[in-house]
Amino acid sequence: MTSKYAKYIPTAIIIILAAALAAVLLFMYNQPAPQRGIAPLVEVAANEPDSSVWAQNFPNQGTTFEQTAANNVRTTYGGSDNFDKLAVDPNLTILFAGMPFSKGYTEDRGHGNALTDILETARVNEKTPGTCYSCKSANNPGLWTEMGMTAYDATPFADLGQHIDQTIGCANCHDAETMALVVTNPALEEALEAQGKDWRTFTRQEMRTVVCANCHVEYYFQGDGKYLTFPWEQGTQIQNIVAYYNEVGFKDWEYPETGIAMLKAQHPEYELFSAGSTHYAAGVSCADCHMPYTRDGAAKFSDHNVRSPLLQPEKACGACHTDLTYVVERVRTIQDQTNKAMLSAEAALVDSLTAIKAAAADPNANATLLDEARAMHRDAQMYWDFIAAENSMGFHNPEEALRILGEATDMARQAQLKAIQALTPPAQSGSN
Ligand code: HEC
Ligand code: HEC
Ligand code: HEC
Ligand code: HEC
Repeated sequence: MTSKYAKYIPTAIIIILAAALAAVLLFMYNQPAPQRGIAPLVEVAANEPDSSVWAQNFPNQGTTFEQTAANNVRTTYGGSDNFDKLAVDPNLTILFAGMPFSKGYTEDRGHGNALTDILETARVNEKTPGTCYSCKSANNPGLWTEMGMTAYDATPFADLGQHIDQTIGCANCHDAETMALVVTNPALEEALEAQGKDWRTFTRQEMRTVVCANCHVEYYFQGDGKYLTFPWEQGTQIQNIVAYYNEVGFKDWEYPETGIAMLKAQHPEYELFSAGSTHYAAGVSCADCHMPYTRDGAAKFSDHNVRSPLLQPEKACGACHTDLTYVVERVRTIQDQTNKAMLSAEAALVDSLTAIKAAAADPNANATLLDEARAMHRDAQMYWDFIAAENSMGFHNPEEALRILGEATDMARQAQLKAIQALTPPAQSGSN
């Protein structure tokens, strides 16, 4: 016989299943929403200095970033082999006499070597300010937040070194929480502010250039506190920078036996590139050429092995240019032309120094003309150095590089002439 309740069994099953489903849905609904598309493997603290922690979440970026330490290939004018620039160009020993660059001036290498290279350079000594660590370490964003840049810059190099154990890393360019590109160097933030600009309003493409300006810029150490300052108050082109330095009366060193208050350029890649270059005007960013997209199976990511684009033109230029042979050949032509103009400027500068030395040694030299020669030489050498110290041998902005070197040569020859005139007794009036 069948139970009189048997006809209710299907309904009961449906009710039980529906209740179970409702319970499961309620349980799922009450779970916290995932924070990111892919759950992070590790939490990365704000300003985490150790790149290997970040790299656990982003292995492709981490692996390619690590490769920067091992690069050692040299290109015609650049690359990652830290060859001695003084041996390649003996003029540099003359032009930098009396200052540390005449003792040690090596070609730049990858980001993974920045800390090793600053510790090994012959330019560091007991008088070196801590400010020199500003573009070398992923410890900086954390230190700037904790102690402020004023205290950071006033700390001697050796003391600050106690807190620095990481080379450049993820924290120099990224926000740990959002992975967005950020301005981490307070000096850059201040320099932009002084021009009425707020980097937080910049587009993503602009940030792909500005993030490099944290370090690849001209800067100086202001005052006794060695406060890191970008000389951009009047603009970022060479004439604005020299005008600024002349106005504040800054000098990097005094050239021996001449009394010239000299300036030394750092590495103004950002300023030269952004001075109306074809690529900058077309909206191309530093990262487009130096961190091109690459693939790991299905994953597309930015190559963090930042280096000379000439080592992989198919990726660095190929995304935009189809005729690779042509554009690579253009780089060579541009660099050869720039190098030639640079050597002419050096010859003029060496001659000018010789003439000013002779005039400075003669107590009867015309003081006004001698001072004019000194001032002119100061400007001329800074113009030349703006291109010589910039790391692309003119490629980042070919027209501007040639303009600047042309003016440098012209000013150096005028300085030489004035020094020679300072020694020439004025013609006797009425004599024949
Ligand atoms: C259109 C492509 C392009 C863009 C954009 C670009 N560069 Fe370059 N960069 C090059 C080339 C080409 C060289 C020359 C490399 C060589 O000589 O081996 C170079 C050289 C360099 C070097 C020296 C590399 C070395 O091997 O020693 C640095 C540093 C550098 N660029 C930084 C920057 C920064 C910072 C920006 C943005 C402000 C930038 N570049 C924008 C193409 C580019
Ligand atoms: C925190 C400072 C810092 C930031 C940010 C930075 N750089 Fe550098 N970069 C350096 C220093 C310092 C060196 C030289 C290291 C050495 O020689 O040991 C260098 C070297 C390089 C080189 C030469 C590499 C080689 O192998 O010769 C290139 C190219 C370069 N940087 C491009 C860039 C680009 C493009 C950006 C922005 C995406 C950028 N850098 C951001 C500090 C920085
Ligand atoms: C010198 C500056 C610099 C450093 C150092 C750096 N990055 Fe980046 N990173 C960039 C730039 C530029 C992009 C491109 C961002 C864009 O297109 O918006 C990028 C993009 C990324 C992205 C987005 C996906 C992609 O690949 O485009 C991730 C994730 C990332 N980086 C992780 C890291 C990690 C992890 C480290 C440390 C191991 C690191 N980055 C170090 C400049 C840097
Ligand atoms: C993101 C796109 C992009 C990348 C990457 C890029 N270029 Fe260009 N390039 C342009 C644009 C846009 C122009 C200007 C328009 C034109 O004439 O094609 C240009 C122009 C040029 C010119 C002519 C400039 C002039 O003043 O006559 C040369 C040479 C050149 N690029 C070389 C290179 C090299 C070398 C690389 C790789 C290191 C490179 N470009 C990477 C977009 C790019």
